[in-house]
Amino acid sequence: MLYFPFDERYSLSMGTIPLQPTDPLVEADAHYAAEVAHKQQLLLANHGYYYRANPETALAQWEVLEKVLKSLAAFYPTQFELNINGRNWQWHNRLTNESQSFEFENAASLPLQPLDWVGRQVQEDLLILANDPAVTLVAGQLCFPNDWDLNQKFEQPFLQIHHHIPKVFTPTMQAAQKLMERLVSHRPVWRLNWNFKIHNALDMSSQYFAESRRELAEIGPQLTPSNVGERLYLRVERQTLSRLPRSNYILFGIHTYQNTVANEAQNPDRARRMYQVLKSIPREVMQYKAIPFFEEALLAYLQQRGDFLN
Ligand code: HEM
Repeated sequence: MLYFPFDERYSLSMGTIPLQPTDPLVEADAHYAAEVAHKQQLLLANHGYYYRANPETALAQWEVLEKVLKSLAAFYPTQFELNINGRNWQWHNRLTNESQSFEFENAASLPLQPLDWVGRQVQEDLLILANDPAVTLVAGQLCFPNDWDLNQKFEQPFLQIHHHIPKVFTPTMQAAQKLMERLVSHRPVWRLNWNFKIHNALDMSSQYFAESRRELAEIGPQLTPSNVGERLYLRVERQTLSRLPRSNYILFGIHTYQNTVANEAQNPDRARRMYQVLKSIPREVMQYKAIPFFEEALLAYLQQRGDFLN
């Protein structure tokens, strides 16, 4: 996997770093076609569960559309093409064989709301937070969440959204709140978040939480050092935060990547770092991430594969 979130030891810091002009805001990889098709199906089946937006987000939605399309066209010019002629925009998506002409900032010229339309052009989930002091979640197309959904978190402030996470994160989240308040439009940032999962389903929305916990309780005890590498997936979220210059709202993008632990652990340095990070995590974070279900097997497996000599 391109992104590997483990350093030498676990850290409670925010882990945000500047997104450089050479870094794409959104990424299109080998899973593009399958993942955008999957999004279409989810949105068709249960639109209100995966997409919500307050009317006040109209301008911010156009800003998101502009940022996302310009980034795709700039970083993947053979796959995507954007022609701008004043207010008349033309979009060609060669990966899905789709073309769309529209008038920028004219809602009637697009078949869907701008956020709902542009979200279907990318693998990322796209969320919009307001420019109020509490930084409230006011819109989102969220198809591939890890144990949450829009119904749970819609119209909640940033700190409230994180209220349920372990208390050791309190200073981290206070720093993150400041970062959100001070984010400036020409300095986007990004960070990685990670989890270990027994499934590689991208849609892990909270409707599946109870079922997947039951499954984990059942399968966890069956995991041993000889099968845990193939059975467990490392799920990594590449998260970006960008200020939208006109509305002053914030775009939060999440691209979910997954790989089996076995594939990651083929690299002995990665195996060692996973081991060391797991060994240094506060207990309540281990519990929150549901690692104790397979902790022993995973640690033994990583210990066998890690290069601990350097
Ligand atoms: C700098 C920005 C951010 C930081 C440092 C941050 C940090 C964290 C941390 C430490 C957790 C605990 C889970 C874990 O480590 O696996 C978490 C979970 C969560 N965060 Fe954030 N977060 C940020 C931005 C956001 C934003 C903008 C949203 C907006 C919706 C969000 C939504 C969530 C949700 C719903 C969870 C619970 C789901 C889960 O456990 O993965 N986060 N976040």
